[in-house]
Amino acid sequence: MTQISTHTVIPPRSTTSERSVGRPVDRVDGTAKTTGEARFSAEYPYPDLAHAALVHATVARGRITAIDTAAASAVEGVLTVLTHENAPVLKPPPSPNPLNLSSMVSGTSVSYLNTDEVHWNGQPVAVVVAETPQAARRAALLVRVTYDSLPATLDFAAEEENARPLKGDLLSQAAAKKGDPEAALAAAPVSVDLRYTTPPYHHNAIEPHATTAAWDGDRLTVHDTTQSIDWVRRHLALRFGVPVAGVRVIAPYVGGGFGGKGLLWPGTILAVMAARATGRPVRLALTREGVYHTVGGRTPSAQRVALGAGPDGRMTALIHTSVSRVARVGGRPEPVTAVSGHLYDAANIRLQQNIVELDLLSNTFMRAPGEAIGTFALESAVDELACELGIDPIELRMRNEPARNPIDGKRFARRLLREAYALGAERFGWSERTPQPGSMRDGRWLVGMGVASAYHPPLQLDAHLTLRLSVDGTVVVRCGFQEMGMGGATATAQIAADALGVPLSSVRVEYGDSALPVAPMAGGATQTASVAAALLTAAEKLKKSLLALAGRSGESPLRGQRLDRLEARDGGLYRADRQGETYTGILSRAGRPSVEVAVGSDSGLGAAAGQVRFMARFLRDRRRWVKAALGAHFCEVRVDRDTGEVRVSRWVGAFDVGTVINPKTAGSQLRGGIVMGIGMALSEQTLVDPRTGRIMNPSLSEYHLPVHADIPPIDVCYLNEPDPTMPLGLMGLGEVGITGAAAALANAVHHATGKRVRDLPITLDKLL
Ligand code: MOS
Repeated sequence: MTQISTHTVIPPRSTTSERSVGRPVDRVDGTAKTTGEARFSAEYPYPDLAHAALVHATVARGRITAIDTAAASAVEGVLTVLTHENAPVLKPPPSPNPLNLSSMVSGTSVSYLNTDEVHWNGQPVAVVVAETPQAARRAALLVRVTYDSLPATLDFAAEEENARPLKGDLLSQAAAKKGDPEAALAAAPVSVDLRYTTPPYHHNAIEPHATTAAWDGDRLTVHDTTQSIDWVRRHLALRFGVPVAGVRVIAPYVGGGFGGKGLLWPGTILAVMAARATGRPVRLALTREGVYHTVGGRTPSAQRVALGAGPDGRMTALIHTSVSRVARVGGRPEPVTAVSGHLYDAANIRLQQNIVELDLLSNTFMRAPGEAIGTFALESAVDELACELGIDPIELRMRNEPARNPIDGKRFARRLLREAYALGAERFGWSERTPQPGSMRDGRWLVGMGVASAYHPPLQLDAHLTLRLSVDGTVVVRCGFQEMGMGGATATAQIAADALGVPLSSVRVEYGDSALPVAPMAGGATQTASVAAALLTAAEKLKKSLLALAGRSGESPLRGQRLDRLEARDGGLYRADRQGETYTGILSRAGRPSVEVAVGSDSGLGAAAGQVRFMARFLRDRRRWVKAALGAHFCEVRVDRDTGEVRVSRWVGAFDVGTVINPKTAGSQLRGGIVMGIGMALSEQTLVDPRTGRIMNPSLSEYHLPVHADIPPIDVCYLNEPDPTMPLGLMGLGEVGITGAAAALANAVHHATGKRVRDLPITLDKLL
């Protein structure tokens, strides 16, 4: 082996501009996605592929008394029609237990096609498998089902009075109290006591859910539109009674999720079942309507926010209670009132969540579950209090900015809300606002400006990965996370590049395959921080191995050096006196093609231990301090004085999300949240017929998502200060953007028109 002496070359000292973290680099998966090379779950070709379509129940609750599949089976190309009478028997879904994540991954507790019971209008009651998707869908229309209907509870508004207090668990509190808030409210010189309501919403990711499943004996390969390949793998193994190690889930590309691809919904399980039953690879690509029928959306809510204050604006009472819904067959109560324990320094606080149970499909998490709708009520009410007091809404917030966490007096890891408001106000031009509602005009348009706070706690979970550096200088990170468009692969490559001091172009990240080491779901604003922590540990291990390798040679200037005294840069390790060696040099002299290190275990068996570690860290962390990504929204609207049409004309969001790894992908995340907040405020709502439990607008033509023409330029800016308690100082930012957004818009509408809309969405009939 030729000895290569590299220490004589002294490269220039690197500057921060050569670092990758903090730069708005393009997505590593951008080219594959824009050229169509990226394959999504419904695009994997298999020889002999069959196609499935679902038949949905048309009653809300009851039993199937007969199911006639003769006409469907006679359609040319139909292979089979699966019903509860002939479908393979599945193991039942495990009962929910917050300490056992694998039990929480099921969207509902129903054993699909293993029961004659119907639990929601839209539940799959049969699956047609055919040679083509067209034949499957046509045949599905011909399946005749008759039911014995049972009385069903379907009307959220009517059930509100029957709501019962929610019990909290280890992960989330359902109630909290400090002092005597009702007495303080009654005694307050100035107060508001208000009711807000929000409708159900659906995620409407651009890619409808799809599964391609192929069995080989007891081995199963699944391409699934999921936010957690690990949960899918473990859940399918459990339900189909096969070893976890034999189940492989592949999902490198997911076209948006927003929580709707977090759990296991019927489509995934039924595609795998259809493949089992027919012995063919099967694809089940849901129609948009099929997604509405089989994937839960966001709960509706009815909320009370009551605030009491002195004439100086200091809050004395803060009461926030909520009613939301779950289904009898599952669903997750959202922490609707949680944010209200953190934002205002009120002497007396009461938070209480209540739920009703309905005979509908389970609700599920949707972007900033709880906080998104809770901040609409809280941040609207604070604006209403500011109007009562005649105090500027930002000033009111600053007067109530706490030094410690209001509800329990815990320390903040840090708190930069003042700074966020200062930055946003400057960029937005808040000082030009005249306080009187209706006082700002531009021709026929009434102009309004509103603000609201954003708040979302970060979380870090257990991640496993391997990191390899080869003699040619290339670096490979292998980690079983997945991308639903957040930019996780890009951020991970940037972090790896800096940790090792190599160019971004030499880093490749392999992800989206359960054959890789286990990583957390893409959700809860957890993934980047979780992977970063593991990656930083791995990079230290890798550099230690390389240093040890270098130290074996008497020629190396790194011999006898300590890693903490060296800098990783320019593809190698360097001393303060600029003597050092490249990794390529170290590896070639040692005759090694590569070095690889692992963090955590690669096997699914490590998952249980990881959960316990995660819970322990989560609880320890929560005892020590309160932390959050937060921000300030500034919204300007123009409202047509005759028609009530609302146009959003400007938006500034100033955020503290800790270290910004990539301003380009981070900006997309935050803007996306704001766009969803605009939709939530102005146009989106899922309409459920309270007589039948049927969703009346299950399509993009009737569920009104914002389009480009509805969205103004959105200026996103960051404080960019590292959080001392998070890896690299970064906090997840997938959820925080939507929190407070609907309130900022509603507050701007009030400022423009003097009309306060407390029932979302703010459609024009409510303004006339
Ligand atoms: Mo998020 S609601 O966990 O995708």
